[in-house]
Amino acid sequence: MTRTLATIDRTAFAHNLARVRELAPGRAVYAAVKADGYGHGAVTVAQALTDADGFAVSSLDEALQLRWAGIDRPIVMLSQRLDATVCEQAGEHGLEIVLFHDHQLDALEHYIGPSVRVWIKLDTGMHRLGFACARADEIQQRVDALERVVLAGWLTHLACADDPAAALTRRQLGEFEAATEGRAGARSIANSAGVLAWPQAHADMVRPGIMLYGSSPLLDRDATACDLRPAMHLSAPLIARQTIAAGEAIGYGATWQTPEDMPVGVIGIGYGDGYPRHAPAGTPVLINGVRVPLIGRVSMDMITVDLRAAPDAAVGDRATLWGPGLPADEIAQAAGTISYELFCRLTPRVRFEIV
Ligand SMILES: Cc1ncc(COP(=O)(O)O)c(C=O)c1O
Repeated sequence: MTRTLATIDRTAFAHNLARVRELAPGRAVYAAVKADGYGHGAVTVAQALTDADGFAVSSLDEALQLRWAGIDRPIVMLSQRLDATVCEQAGEHGLEIVLFHDHQLDALEHYIGPSVRVWIKLDTGMHRLGFACARADEIQQRVDALERVVLAGWLTHLACADDPAAALTRRQLGEFEAATEGRAGARSIANSAGVLAWPQAHADMVRPGIMLYGSSPLLDRDATACDLRPAMHLSAPLIARQTIAAGEAIGYGATWQTPEDMPVGVIGIGYGDGYPRHAPAGTPVLINGVRVPLIGRVSMDMITVDLRAAPDAAVGDRATLWGPGLPADEIAQAAGTISYELFCRLTPRVRFEIV
C-alpha cells in the first residue's frame, strides 16, 4: 500500500483561478508556479491552469522546465540573474525577464538575439529586489535604448499585503503610482494577498500564487472564507495501533504522557516525507473524518496520534495530514510556519497522484 500520498486535484486550480478572475476582473493573470508549482508539480499546475494568461517562475531552469513540457504561454522569470547565456536562452525560448538590478541592463546591452520582453521592477518599500523609484526615468531610458528589448511594463511587490490594515501597503501603492504615472507599459503589483485584500493593487496584471493552491495568505480570513479549494490532499496510512497504559510516555524524548489507558495510533509519515518536525502535540490529523491530536515528537517516518476520539480507526485506514477538511494553513500555524513552506518541503519519498 502506498505510504505517503499527495493527491493533486486539478479541478481545484480551475476553481481557484476562477476566484482570481472574479476578484480582479479583466486583469491579466500570471500564475506563480515557482518552486515546482509550490511543491505541487509546476508542469501539472501549468497544464491544469488552462485559463492563465501566463506564468511566473523564479529562474531560467524553472522556465525551461515548462517550455520543454510544451507550455507555450508567456513565462516571466522573477528573480533570474542575467548573463550572456541567460539572455540568449530567454530570447530563444520567448521568456520574459524581470529587471531589478543594473547588472541585468549591462548584460542586455551586449545581447544580439531575438527580442525579449522585460518588466522593470521598482522597489517601493519591500527592499528586496528592484530599482529605487527615483531611478524610473533613467532605467526606462536605458531599456528604451536597447534594440532587442521590448518593455512589457512595470512591477512591484508588496511586503505586508497579508495585513489589510498595513500602512506600508498604502505607501507602496502611492510610490508605485507616482513613479509609473504616464509611462508606457502594463503595471503589476498584486500577489494573492493583493488580489484578495487590495483591489486598488490589481492594476493590469496580477501574480497570484498561494491562493491558486487553495491556501489563504491573509491574517484575518481563512481559505474557506476566501472560497478557495485545497489542491493538495496529503495522506498516509495508519500502520499500527495499540493500547498504552496510563502514565506511560510516547516517542522520542518521552515528551507526552498518557493521562489514562488509551488507544495510540502510528501513522506512516514523518519529517522524512516533509511533515514538519516542529508540529507540536495537539496538531490535528484527520482520520475517518474525525480530528485526532498528534502526541509525542514527529519522527522521520512516523507520527503518533491520540485515537480516543476515533476508537474504531483500524490499521490501513488513511489519515489526512492536510487537504479537504484540514487546511494546510492550520497545520502550518501549529508548526510555526506558512503553508507555502509545508508544500515546498515535501520530499521525493512522497508519491504524487493527479486526479
Ligand atoms: C514577485 C512575486 N510575485 C508574486 C508572488 C506570488 O505570491 P503569493 O504566493 O503570495 O500569491 C511571489 C511569491 O513569493 C513573488 O515573489
